[in-house]
Amino acid sequence: MLTQVPLPEKYHTLSLEQMAERIGAHKRAFGDRLVILGHHYQRDDVIRFADFTGDSLKLSQLAARQKNAEFVVFCGVHFMAESADILTDDSVQVILPDLTAGCSMADMATLEQVEEAWAYLTDVTDEKIIPITYVNSAASIKAFCGRHDGACCTSSNARRILEYALDQGDKVLFLPDQHLGRNTAYAMGWPLESMILYGPDDNDFSDEQIRQAKFILWKGFCSVHQYFTPEDCAQVRRTDPDRKIIVHPECCWEVVQKADLAGSTEYIIKVITEAPDGSRWAVGTEINLVHRLIEQNLGRKDIRLLGKPQCLCTTMFRIDLPHLLWCLDELAAGRVVNRITVDPATRRDALLALERMLEHVHAEPVSSK
Ligand code: 13P
Ligand code: SF4
Repeated sequence: MLTQVPLPEKYHTLSLEQMAERIGAHKRAFGDRLVILGHHYQRDDVIRFADFTGDSLKLSQLAARQKNAEFVVFCGVHFMAESADILTDDSVQVILPDLTAGCSMADMATLEQVEEAWAYLTDVTDEKIIPITYVNSAASIKAFCGRHDGACCTSSNARRILEYALDQGDKVLFLPDQHLGRNTAYAMGWPLESMILYGPDDNDFSDEQIRQAKFILWKGFCSVHQYFTPEDCAQVRRTDPDRKIIVHPECCWEVVQKADLAGSTEYIIKVITEAPDGSRWAVGTEINLVHRLIEQNLGRKDIRLLGKPQCLCTTMFRIDLPHLLWCLDELAAGRVVNRITVDPATRRDALLALERMLEHVHAEPVSSK
């Protein structure tokens, strides 16, 4: 994990109003030179300063369009800021307000582990394996996929990218989220038996099972979405059978099977926003987004979190007003802090994987019944 310098004491004594006022003043002073991007899981007091909000796919597309900005401040997590750096010109400086805002799922696949797995898998089978990585991964993993004819995907376009991968080769190595891989492949009609789970430290399948498999799923998962359980869905069905269940495809397969709908954060927002007044929803995703949906639909739609309220992405949560203000104060003083840069060789190969993804941008649900 990267280390974050402690903020000067004054940032802990300012009120929320004082910080908000100063951030607003910086935004006005920088004008078009500054763009703030915010992921939907950010807390409310931060997201209100975002020029653009979105899920991972939308934010990648938005980052790629920032041709005039000098600074992109990314209110999200580290892999998103890396993608923004890869997708923008060298003249654009990407800043992550708190360097400790990482992603535990992205950390579950290191380049060393993936290269070791690749050597093993390509030794066992002569069939062409296409590596696909969820954008929730380090730039080095994206670059690995770029070098090996693979691509990135997000939860908005995973299906389209898996179709692309199967056009290019015989098998898919899906990194690092087993659940997005399994849920998407299953929704495309592939049985669970066509998938094996690869853990960098513990594997219990034979070489023959690798040769038979269509999908080799990396054993990663999201520490937030793993909290939703099939029992949470069963409880809604028992107590409130008219309530629809919508979940993110980072939830496990059993939860997605019991839900009515599964799709990316952008998809969840769209479905609930377009749902008729009076509709009732249980939502299985990060709590900041669910709270925002509840607020935006108050008195019209009945929305609640699926399951227990521990579904906070604690690393996203590290981006707060003190850190946002601090990096803008520093920029205003002519100092660029917390710049995220990807080295040129990694950038070149990762860009291949991201561009292949962006050619196939169709956003669609992972499963709908
Ligand atoms: P999306 O933004 O693709 O919905 O993914 C959610 C997430 O977990 C981001 O880290
Ligand atoms: Fe990573 Fe999950 Fe947080 Fe997304 S919600 S950044 S996948 S830990």
